[in-house]
Amino acid sequence: MAKNTLTVTDNRTGKQYEIPVADGTIKAIDLRQIRTSESDFGLMTYDPAFMNTASCRSAITYIDGERGILRYRGYPIEQLAERSNFLEVAYLLIYGELPAKAQYDAWAADITHHTMIHENIKKLMDGFHYNAHPMGMLVSTIGALSTFYTDARNVRDPESRRLQIHRLIAKVPTIAAFAFRHSVGHPYIYPDNSLGYAANFMSMLWKMVETRYEANPVLVRALDVLFILHADHEQNCSTNSMRAIGSSDADPYSAAAGAAAALWGPLHGGANEAVLRMLDEIGTKDRVPGFIRAVKEGHGKLMGFGHRVYKNYDPRARTIKRLAEEVFEVTGRNPKLDIALELERIALQDDYFVSRKLYPNVDFYSGLIYQAMKFPVDMFPVLFCIPRMSGWLAQWDEMLRDKDQKIARPRQIYTGNGERDYKGMEERGG
Ligand code: SDX
Repeated sequence: MAKNTLTVTDNRTGKQYEIPVADGTIKAIDLRQIRTSESDFGLMTYDPAFMNTASCRSAITYIDGERGILRYRGYPIEQLAERSNFLEVAYLLIYGELPAKAQYDAWAADITHHTMIHENIKKLMDGFHYNAHPMGMLVSTIGALSTFYTDARNVRDPESRRLQIHRLIAKVPTIAAFAFRHSVGHPYIYPDNSLGYAANFMSMLWKMVETRYEANPVLVRALDVLFILHADHEQNCSTNSMRAIGSSDADPYSAAAGAAAALWGPLHGGANEAVLRMLDEIGTKDRVPGFIRAVKEGHGKLMGFGHRVYKNYDPRARTIKRLAEEVFEVTGRNPKLDIALELERIALQDDYFVSRKLYPNVDFYSGLIYQAMKFPVDMFPVLFCIPRMSGWLAQWDEMLRDKDQKIARPRQIYTGNGERDYKGMEERGG
């Protein structure tokens, strides 16, 4: 009968060790027994960027990178995008089940109740420079919320966590809209609690002197679907940041600010902005082959392509590509789509990309929709951050309830100097 163990022979000592295998992993700590002497610290794993390391057990999101599968709590992303709405998906991520009607209504009421922000937040945002990047304003202001909700430090109290989850999901669109309005010099628009989540966000963005903002229902639905697609993605860079910061029992506003900062990187959630800047740089369809050639020669990356986990088409990109056509029916076709389609057409048949399993990811087409909906390019990472807040909070809550988890503190391989004595300034060389 096969045993769920590894038998490891340390050829340095000839000793053998039997190490349990569970869930397709071995526990790194089980390697510490492999030592060459009593004084030896024991073996560690070396895994920069966690290329092959599971940091936690999670029941929230499942991804199969080879088959291009993404499920939230077991539900395929395609079905959720087709039949659900963002607030319902946020509930699913946090609580693990689709809500019954009464649960959904209570959840929606809780979120709606918390859409306003303290008036002093406006003064804080007014302090940003006129051309401050909206994502920089969002990161800073999310962190500043920790000074308004000091009860949030009770991270081990489930009721306190639930209240902060409501506040953050509710307030992140308000702060995001205020950041946009600041960047265009328009007055802040308060939440309209008679509207749904995406429609209220659009009202806070675009309402001017009309008594009530009436968003186009096709665009509201498109934004809601985009929020669903961006809500969670297991242990990505920003979620890892949320969990690492949260593991010190820091409050969720500080942890979410760190996660948002990680998301802003152009290799992560900042890629949607980088894709549009790349398309602008290419300019016309006939310049695509030259751009691809430059990328293959090592001059820059094809932004919106590639993924650490997906070695197939990102299922979200497929849905977004379809969504783009629906949006363009209303907004008019974004001419940059032709450049994006030509980039994809060439890349998907070019061995450089095929051999590296580089396919369009969630960021490749999303920006084309955002731009067609009149969002400025620097708002794109903000549009990623709003829905991902629910994923970060679900992961943070799960981490705090996980008995295996404790403060995150990786080890290192030391490569610096051995011990040496201090030298006074006069003794040092030139
Ligand atoms: C997101 O993790 C998540 O789940 C993230 C996310 C989420 O929902 O949270 O899905 C959201 O962040 C999507 C990714 C958005 N980023 C981009 O589109 C930026 C462009 N993509 C790359 O920077 C890259 O593909 C990453 C960062 C996404 C993944 O990088 P990896 O897994 O570390 O892979 P790598 O950099 O080691 O690349 C392997 C090879 C390298 O070539 P060689 O050294 O083998 O010759 O592929 C090449 C890379 O140079 N490569 C690319 C490329 N991506 C990888 N070459 C050209 N263009 C690219 N986009």
